[in-house]
Amino acid sequence: MKNSHQPVMLGEILEYLQPSINQDFVDCTLGGGGHTVEILKRTGPDGRVIGIDLDPLAIKLTKQAADDFGERLILVQDNFKNLELILEKYQIGSVDGILLDLGLSSNQLADKERGFSFTDQDFLSMSFANSSEVTASEIVNTYSVGELENIFKQYGEENLARPIAQKIVEVRTADPITHPKILADIVSQVYQRYYRQHSKINPATKVFQALRIAVNDELENLKSVLPQAIEALKSGGRLAVISYHSLEDRIVKNFFRLENQDCICLPTMPVCQCTHVKKINLVTKKPIGPTESEVQKNPRARSAKLRVIEKI
Ligand SMILES: C[S@@+](CC[C@H](N)C(=O)[O-])C[C@H]1O[C@@H](n2cnc3c(N)ncnc32)[C@H](O)[C@@H]1O
Repeated sequence: MKNSHQPVMLGEILEYLQPSINQDFVDCTLGGGGHTVEILKRTGPDGRVIGIDLDPLAIKLTKQAADDFGERLILVQDNFKNLELILEKYQIGSVDGILLDLGLSSNQLADKERGFSFTDQDFLSMSFANSSEVTASEIVNTYSVGELENIFKQYGEENLARPIAQKIVEVRTADPITHPKILADIVSQVYQRYYRQHSKINPATKVFQALRIAVNDELENLKSVLPQAIEALKSGGRLAVISYHSLEDRIVKNFFRLENQDCICLPTMPVCQCTHVKKINLVTKKPIGPTESEVQKNPRARSAKLRVIEKI
């Protein structure tokens, strides 16, 4: 398969992470290797990128794209929630910069066997690694109405979570829901009952997002990697996070806010008990979005939000 993923906010990432001669970076989300290759170009002759991705396809595509850089690129097929262990294993001390470009790549979306796309006729898996503990198909075909409703509400902020969950359970009693297209059609039918007007985005967008988050445990992985990333940075090193929906961005924003202050005791505490110390400075006070011209060229960038911090 050829790489079809265009790196999002590449110019901004290079501007904020400022990769330069002999610096070491971690790219926690390789995808097609777009950001990694540009970082490697700027960190020669001896700078390294430790490139992580859960997906064997991302490892393969990045290997192809970054073939010229030899041992300067260390490829690791793993979950970024294991960042500390990965750096320990490869005996990498602290690094100059870390990138998290969350979510899924265009390559995964285009892979018909994954079931990320509404029109896919193939298996409803939605696993980044292709080896998650649970697949979207198992969730949709075995979880109760209440469990499904919870997932759609919590991870998709879907207003019609309950009726969609009920319809899924009704449909699957006759026939298991095996393909993404069947699921997308069910959601669409429920939407038609409640809303007359058609929206520009596919009505199944939130349900698909919710299932993807649940299958890959995305929010927990993010919560787990953020403190490890701060720990792994050198003083003056930077962490850049691109998120694509409000659930992710909220986690990043709240974490950065917390680490940007000394005391985190409740305001009702008369004297500080927490011993928490400020570890970072905010480089971006507000999230940065892509330029209009980038969104025109690459519509998948439209929901991107970039936040950057610097370790003290
Ligand atoms: C938006 S893409 C990254 C694109 C990449 N920056 C580029 O320019 O080509 C996100 C990637 O993160 C990977 N990913 C998501 N969650 C992960 C996790 N917990 N651990 C490792 N990789 C993860 C996905 O498999 C996907 O390849």
